[in-house]
Amino acid sequence: MDMTALYLERFMNYGVTPEELRSGKPIIGIAQSGSDLSPCNRIHIDLAKRTRDGIRDAGGIPIEFPVHPIFENCRRPTAAIDRNLLYLGLVELLNGYPIDGVVLTTGCDKTTPSQIMAASTVDIPAIVLSGGPMLDGWHEGELVGSGTVIWRSRRKLAAGEIDEEQFLDRATSSAPSAGHCNSMGTASTMNAVAEALGMSLTGCAAIPAPYRERGQMAYRTGYRIVEMVHEDLKPSDILTREAFENAIAVTSVIGGSSNAQPHIVAMARHAGVELEQEIWQEHGYDLPLLVNMQPAGAYLGERFHRAGGVPAAMWELLEAGVLHGDTATCTGATMAENLAGCESKDREMIRPFADPLMERAGFMVLSGNLFDFGILKTSVISDEFRERYLSRPGRENVFEARAIVFDGSDDYHHRIDDPSLKIDEDCILVIRGSGVIGWPGSAEVVNMQPPERMIREGKQWLPTLGDGRQSGTSDSPSILNVSPESAVGGGLAWLRTGDTIRVDLNERSCNALVEEDEIARRLAEYPAPEFPESNTPWEELFREKTGQLGEGGVMDFAVKYRGTSRKLPRH
Ligand code: FES
Ligand code: MG
Repeated sequence: MDMTALYLERFMNYGVTPEELRSGKPIIGIAQSGSDLSPCNRIHIDLAKRTRDGIRDAGGIPIEFPVHPIFENCRRPTAAIDRNLLYLGLVELLNGYPIDGVVLTTGCDKTTPSQIMAASTVDIPAIVLSGGPMLDGWHEGELVGSGTVIWRSRRKLAAGEIDEEQFLDRATSSAPSAGHCNSMGTASTMNAVAEALGMSLTGCAAIPAPYRERGQMAYRTGYRIVEMVHEDLKPSDILTREAFENAIAVTSVIGGSSNAQPHIVAMARHAGVELEQEIWQEHGYDLPLLVNMQPAGAYLGERFHRAGGVPAAMWELLEAGVLHGDTATCTGATMAENLAGCESKDREMIRPFADPLMERAGFMVLSGNLFDFGILKTSVISDEFRERYLSRPGRENVFEARAIVFDGSDDYHHRIDDPSLKIDEDCILVIRGSGVIGWPGSAEVVNMQPPERMIREGKQWLPTLGDGRQSGTSDSPSILNVSPESAVGGGLAWLRTGDTIRVDLNERSCNALVEEDEIARRLAEYPAPEFPESNTPWEELFREKTGQLGEGGVMDFAVKYRGTSRKLPRH
């Protein structure tokens, strides 16, 4: 008799017979991310019943347990500090209990990377079960997507085209059912990334939460994890450099969230794969936009799923020869084998590689005297913006703008409509103090809108720059995730309102046109950067241990732990 059984008498008392335990059946954890506090993942409370059926039918013993809840929209100071907290908690659970394999239940933005990071650290067989997006939102005959509708309606409100009642109406219409955000925000992106990495069954990411297929996917995922335990198929077998290159390529062609950058880097680092900055150029930037989903495109999750979802987008990449087809996946087959016959069924939704919605639609990595690393999500740069800023004869892809600098989002909200700032089309809005340490956690605030006066005149956009992030559902052309951030002495700290910033997309540079000796003078004159006090022990610990967004916002000391469960006897 396995000694583990002796420690499990309470489990036996509840759901397992002694005979079963003695038979050596694998114990399969279901890491439950759904709760009333994380409504985007609530569907998993129901799905777990189907997952259990699959685990049982395959000869496993399901053990469901909660993970730290993460809800993007309500968490103060920001949900970003929860990614590393869920990670820490789940590592302890998977390492400390006799669990042989685990189903990671994902949905809302950070619930995907955090759980994959933890599975990598412990390195027991693990499979991702996405909860799926909400049904498409409709308002007065128009598709309204999560988040995207908020940013667009804010501009309409500012322009006086709608009132607050209509604003609220549009917002609630965008959330018609259980599920995570239905646009290509961070949630849809990260679940697509999990599938691209080979961590979930083929077609898992895009099935809307309430659809029949979602329950069936839960059953099949539960069934498969038991087989994976018998095969000893672990995250370290799946999460290779090639798998991450595939994930970056997929992020580009789906018009994925700018938050994918820190999350992909974080997952890779916990998997022992170092992704250099250039990888975003080499495996992403040159790729076209294929998936016609808001915010970069027109449609939402239901149509994406019907068109074939992530496998159909990946099929295009495979055919075009820009996907590693031989990567291992949780199915036990290679990625190329998984994708056989997965061609798109709707060419308006998932475009052919040769006839995309946009060429070169990935992230561009910029650097200069203000920062070492910042990204620009090119798939959301509108024609109007390109025309205004990036198409001057003889100076294509280059613009100069006068900086208007805000210290955090309160300062932005207080001063954006201040006429004395004289904000016009030749300005770039800059926000600092919004990074990993400054906020803490890094806030989604870089997608700042112009003053109301300009919006009423039909000027929807100004270039923006900041050391925070922005929502994956935003269609703002921003330079963001800037590292190092101002709170640790990054270049934004010495920038002043009125300085000229030159952005050169040909050279991939962003510089303030300030002389070296002036920069030195300002640096000497300034005290060390200040940021708000921590309010909780975790905020303090997070600030002490967490690195910059360019390096994934990872707790650096944690990446050395890999394969921990292999070191601990099961009893
Ligand atoms: Fe949770 Fe968008 S807020 S998925
Ligand atoms: Mg978001």
